[in-house]
Amino acid sequence: MNHTPLFGLPAVAGLATIDEAAKPGLSVETCVSALKRFHYCFLRLHEIFTARITAEPIYELKTAYSHHAYLCAEHVKALRERIGEMREPPLGLDAVPHEGLQVAFDETLATPTTNLLLLGIYARILPALDRAMTAYRSATNPLTDAPSVRVLRFAQLEVADMIAYGDKALACVVDPASQGDGGFCERIGASLEAAGGIYGVGKQGPVPERVFSKTPFVYDRVPQRDERWQDPWNQGVNAEGFIYDPAMPAKAKTLMLLYKRLREIDVPEMMASIIHETKGKPWDYYRDMSRQLWDEARHAMMGEVGFAALGVDWTQARITLNWSHRLNTECTPIERHAVLYFIEQGLMTKTGKRYEWEVGQQSGIPLMATIQDFDWADEVLHAQLGRQWYIPEFDDWKKAIAYGDECWTRILSNWQSVRDRGLTQHENWWPEIYRQACAAWNETPHAAALAFAEDYSDARADRKNVATSA
Ligand SMILES: [Fe+2]
Ligand SMILES: [Fe+2]
Repeated sequence: MNHTPLFGLPAVAGLATIDEAAKPGLSVETCVSALKRFHYCFLRLHEIFTARITAEPIYELKTAYSHHAYLCAEHVKALRERIGEMREPPLGLDAVPHEGLQVAFDETLATPTTNLLLLGIYARILPALDRAMTAYRSATNPLTDAPSVRVLRFAQLEVADMIAYGDKALACVVDPASQGDGGFCERIGASLEAAGGIYGVGKQGPVPERVFSKTPFVYDRVPQRDERWQDPWNQGVNAEGFIYDPAMPAKAKTLMLLYKRLREIDVPEMMASIIHETKGKPWDYYRDMSRQLWDEARHAMMGEVGFAALGVDWTQARITLNWSHRLNTECTPIERHAVLYFIEQGLMTKTGKRYEWEVGQQSGIPLMATIQDFDWADEVLHAQLGRQWYIPEFDDWKKAIAYGDECWTRILSNWQSVRDRGLTQHENWWPEIYRQACAAWNETPHAAALAFAEDYSDARADRKNVATSA
């Protein structure tokens, strides 16, 4: 084209060459229809990741689903905003763009095994979504549609990360002994093809028969853990009793803090059930709740990393799932949210997150200070999110807090009953963990710290003195 920018500067603000920007590209209507399909994909991926967190036993996958659910929630938000800018009322974002897409996601959501879930998401759907976004970006006009291109560039960065994770996970987790997938991958491919591909410009065809999703998906809200999480009903070590005891050394207290962080894996297990079972909220609700869920998974991983850095085998601790199990099976979603908020606003006091950070600093272990510093910052955010999404369910703040207190009180201490039922002996695991750390530090154990043997048995029935962490 016979047009050169002054001084040979990059054309059109660096978006493209004049030639590239001079091609007609796509119409607003075509763009909206494709962007709605991408939006639908991220929406369904968010749903699938969230729905499979709680009952996934493998901790590494639980935390990865938590991460990827959050990433998808962010891209749903960005796409909704972009579509809303394109002469399109926000209505229609909840419509299913094509039955073929619906079947592909329904089948993946209902996969009966972890291996098939990983295959469906990481080997089929995400690569197809990536190809579709690439096709869109090369077809649309880089100048007229620059805002969409920008949104998709960011989305593709994270889709690539998710695919890379999935490739590695599939190499580890797929059981080589399991023969075939019962036609599942082919069915996903055929369903996407029936929709003319995710981008929707291909030839459309017949939608394959449903297999896994013949009957509607049943959400499993019972938390599961892999074999490293032994004795999951154990409430034999009162971590808060130790941390708030002025006679105990700060360095030893950091081990209890790491235990409390790792125990937070129960929060994603519980929040996933709130998100999955609460319908009809504005998207910002799901985005914010998914962000918090991801933060809580990070807090658990901070505990894991802290133990590893100190040379302590955390599997020798007993990390209970009592809290998520009871809230998920005995409370409604709003009751769970009430308990979560009640706990988190309680962490904002002087003896809450600030104190934990001070212990981290006093311990002389720089990593502990970092972990508690960011944990505290995250919890301030979570208290804000609670004010935004939980408190408005009530006439006033006081009623909302009282409801949280009441809901938690209803979950009476089960210390005695789990022991009576033979689920646990509440074994005191603390000395073993503390000895491991002292050996790694090359230090003699502090006598009182080693002798600590306070459990959760004398917790008041209303559990007000059973601090937990979220
Ligand atoms: Fe939190
Ligand atoms: Fe947390």
